[in-house]
Amino acid sequence: MEHSPAGTDIPCLQVAKEDSAFSSARDTRVRIFHGIRGRLVAESTLSIRSFPFCGIVNSFTIRAAVNFSAGVSMPAHRPLAVEKSHIDRLIDADFSLTRLVYAYITCAAAWLVFGSLVGEYAGIRLAFPDFGVHPLFSFGRLRPIHTNVVLWGWSSLGMIGLALYVVPRTCQKSLSSNRLAWASLLLLNVAILAGVVLLANGVNNGGQEYREFPWPVMGLYALGLLLLAVNLYRTVAGRSIAEIYIANWYIVAAFLWTITLVVAAYLPWYQNGLGETVIQGYYMHQGVGMWFTPMVLGLTYYFLPKFLNKPIYSYSLGVLAFWTQLLFYTLIGAHHFVFSPIPWWLQTVAIIFSVGMFIPVVAGTGNFLLTMRGSEGAIARSYTVPFILVGVLFYFVGSGQGTLEAFRSLNALWHFTNFTVAHSHITMYGFVSFLIWGGIYGLLPRLTGREPPHLLIGVHFWFALIGLLIYGISLMIGGTEQGESWISGAPFIDSVRLMASYWLWRAVSGSLMLAAHLLFAYNTWRMRPRSRPMQAAEPAGDPA
Ligand code: HEM
Ligand code: HEM
Repeated sequence: MEHSPAGTDIPCLQVAKEDSAFSSARDTRVRIFHGIRGRLVAESTLSIRSFPFCGIVNSFTIRAAVNFSAGVSMPAHRPLAVEKSHIDRLIDADFSLTRLVYAYITCAAAWLVFGSLVGEYAGIRLAFPDFGVHPLFSFGRLRPIHTNVVLWGWSSLGMIGLALYVVPRTCQKSLSSNRLAWASLLLLNVAILAGVVLLANGVNNGGQEYREFPWPVMGLYALGLLLLAVNLYRTVAGRSIAEIYIANWYIVAAFLWTITLVVAAYLPWYQNGLGETVIQGYYMHQGVGMWFTPMVLGLTYYFLPKFLNKPIYSYSLGVLAFWTQLLFYTLIGAHHFVFSPIPWWLQTVAIIFSVGMFIPVVAGTGNFLLTMRGSEGAIARSYTVPFILVGVLFYFVGSGQGTLEAFRSLNALWHFTNFTVAHSHITMYGFVSFLIWGGIYGLLPRLTGREPPHLLIGVHFWFALIGLLIYGISLMIGGTEQGESWISGAPFIDSVRLMASYWLWRAVSGSLMLAAHLLFAYNTWRMRPRSRPMQAAEPAGDPA
């Protein structure tokens, strides 16, 4: 088998796939489509080794579960799950980039475990208020620690780690500077650590959600992002192909938007009165809409076609989603403060644009689902694509839910209730986190030659998914009852009492999610790079 030169296996490749033998090599004619103009601009020949996966979602597992519950023993010769393929070739001999990507992902995994421990503890405190009472562990301190750690630690570092691979790869160019990326990692980690210590000791930026870190801490974080933006921008600028692949539109833009956002959110002259509220709404939703969303969408535009060995359904839809995301998302911040004293017209604009968000959301999810169409067999055999499928579905569900929440009639019912907490987790967890996991499980084994046990990846998937479903459904029902109770004028304590059972379910589901994260951390360790570089042609299977 030949290996494609670094970077040539960009994901818009048209590659014929051998469904049953995932590890067979093939020489394939490759067509690189640039759908913006709908024309073929390049054609090259290279050979691709199909990417092997194992099954998580498959009828066999379901049959095994049915047989088990019916007391029927499985025939001895039948495996519990579909025969799994192992990765057997490295895709990249650039050992220094592998170590860099792995370092980002390890830090992300560590912040995820820490952040979810804090989230679980906060969740238990809501269900059992007398549990572990101490000023250091008060809900008011734990909550911002949880949110800042999972947003700026886990999700951001995970996405950046993957982007450090995707951008050079799709530009057919080495990363502009590995050293600068290491410096950024240090800055980002120091900022998060300092922020956590300060928040735990009651030092914060005031009650400004998701910007509770004091400005010097966020300044450090922004500097880390700025260096990364320069690094990635220079990589794209020096690319050795004419077109900028759609993934890079999203990724580079996300950095530029976010740096602008952080600066605007921390400038001192917006920190008073209603101006502060408008900026707060702008900041909160640009954070999710112009950082997390474009970053994971950009990564998915690389990983999904790559893992399925087929081109993205429509390049043009990706471009449409990009521009409409920019148009609609930047003006919806005020939907966080419907019925507040900020101008009524501004609220109305935010609501109308929240409906407009349906265009990029439908374009994005439609594009991904249509790319998956016809690849059901590959998805069933894969331990990576199911994460991506779930992420895409929750992108649609969570965004639809958000649009409903923006309407005045429904906002009157759900605002301030736990319904919004359900929405936050359906989006940040179901959408963003699942897509990051999909990328990590797909990429790391190919970089390091080591796979974690397939069973543990499956358990991670199901624990996280079932945990999220229990979490989301219980808080959506509980949140709705909470809102109804307030509207009915019942004493406030009634709404607290009615939430007790739903918060218990949240604590239970949180335990499942936490267990999933511990498994993920272990799996990440199992995918660690070897101590010395391996040759690209060297068999690298780690039979797990
Ligand atoms: C069409 C897309 C979306 C719309 C229209 C939308 C709408 C909304 C609305 C109206 C709220 C405020 C609810 C309230 O406080 O009354 C909200 C909150 C929130 N949304 Fe979305 N949403 C969308 C997509 C997303 C996505 C993709 C994410 C994550 C990546 C996200 C993350 C959040 C978070 C974290 C909050 C909680 C903010 C807080 O703490 O107050 N949303 N969303
Ligand atoms: C073990 C898993 C987790 C548990 C038990 C958990 C628990 C919690 C709790 C108790 C809160 C406070 C809710 C309130 O104020 O009533 C919260 C808020 C939040 N969590 Fe988590 N969480 C978990 C994982 C995550 C992850 C992985 C993310 C993001 C990737 C995340 C994002 C958020 C956000 C954005 C909020 C703010 C919600 C809002 O204001 O609407 N959580 N979480």
